[in-house]
Amino acid sequence: MRTSKYPSSSNGFSQRAQAVEPPPIAWLMEQKLKYPALISLAAGFTDPDTLPDKETMQIMHQMAKSKAVMRTTLQYGTGSGRKRLRELTGQRIAELDHTASDKPAYNSERILITHGSQQFLYLVTEALCDAGDMVMVEAPTYFVYLSILKYFGVRACSVPLKTDGIDLVAFEKKLEQLKQSGDLWRLKIIYLVTYHQNPTSQSMPLGKKQALMRLLARYERDAGHPIYVLEDAAYRELGFAQEASAPSMLSLPGALKRVIYSGTYSKPFATGIRVGFGISPAPLARALEHIKGNQDFGTAELLQAILERALESRLYAKHLKLIQARYAQKAGRMVDAMKKYFPSTVQWAAPQGGLYVWTKVPEPVDTGPRGELFETSLKQQVLYVPGCYAYAPDVMGPERNTAMRLSFGNASLHLIEEGIRRLGKSLRATLG
Ligand SMILES: Cc1ncc(COP(=O)(O)O)c(C=O)c1O
Repeated sequence: MRTSKYPSSSNGFSQRAQAVEPPPIAWLMEQKLKYPALISLAAGFTDPDTLPDKETMQIMHQMAKSKAVMRTTLQYGTGSGRKRLRELTGQRIAELDHTASDKPAYNSERILITHGSQQFLYLVTEALCDAGDMVMVEAPTYFVYLSILKYFGVRACSVPLKTDGIDLVAFEKKLEQLKQSGDLWRLKIIYLVTYHQNPTSQSMPLGKKQALMRLLARYERDAGHPIYVLEDAAYRELGFAQEASAPSMLSLPGALKRVIYSGTYSKPFATGIRVGFGISPAPLARALEHIKGNQDFGTAELLQAILERALESRLYAKHLKLIQARYAQKAGRMVDAMKKYFPSTVQWAAPQGGLYVWTKVPEPVDTGPRGELFETSLKQQVLYVPGCYAYAPDVMGPERNTAMRLSFGNASLHLIEEGIRRLGKSLRATLG
């Protein structure tokens, strides 16, 4: 008789699937179901009132007039994405970087269209990391990316954030430690959310990006491979200020070899259309396309075609202006309400873009999901994202439990004000 290596109680899941946990966001959404009247300042959902419904209808109506167009857009496409959308994407990023789009860094051959930038982040991590490898992340960082690292058995190595991006002194110290211990070869990616970061809303200035690239060039000889910078620019186009954003790392020397740019049309246009993209060094771009081939062999043509037309007709640019103004208004309302309702010991920085206000409360208040503040807030029917989710396991200090992420993206102006009022009440009750 053959005996199985699995105990009879096993579900036969792979080790990866056994290790997977429901993402924190699923738990936060459950709370919304449990407490229907809850005001959620937690979800990263976008503003429902400014979704481009008319624009999308107009584009689809135009498309439907041509049988030839419908024949291609209702069909499978290529693995890397529609050529025209890739070209428009390269042109757009070059424009944002204030440079010529015919530079190799923005070449459409290096661009992969994905199902949201989330898929791109996943594919990059799969292509570059084996279990036991390391990725450097900001502390705090985008918590869903931490889940991807955990899933692949990749170690997150945290570098603290200053008010203008990562602490370069701490970053260099980590590189040096890894070099001395002979572990530098395990460091594959530096993951940075460089524009209106999730969760802190900070942006990284150009000077810091340049210094970081110089450091990497110095250390990667000892790593034996490029140490890639994965620049996540998901919130790049959601800035409120009139002045242009800093150029991306694609514009810097050495970019062709080590910069991977992750972008999205999801936040700036429609999360429901969910088209994202990535720009990678050429050999990596091919590997990513092949892995995507195994997953879905191409992002939905129809959705790509909608985006293509939005970009070409300038509807996209027009819509962007509208949502930037809307988010500036919502952020302003949130910050004004915080000034009015929060105890003076609570700290935050007014965001210049993005969807979040990162808020720090004084100890001993614990912002964690099992802490008194979270419980009291739920009773007040208001939800925030506990700051602890945004820290990798190697961060053990008090910062884990003294912050919360508040989003002004989804709630109406009225509910933002009311949510902050209730949160202020819970803060006062918890602080005594
Ligand atoms: C920092 C960051 N990167 C990437 C994503 C993924 O967005 P999408 O897949 O909609 O492009 C998000 C979504 O919230 C995010 O906050």
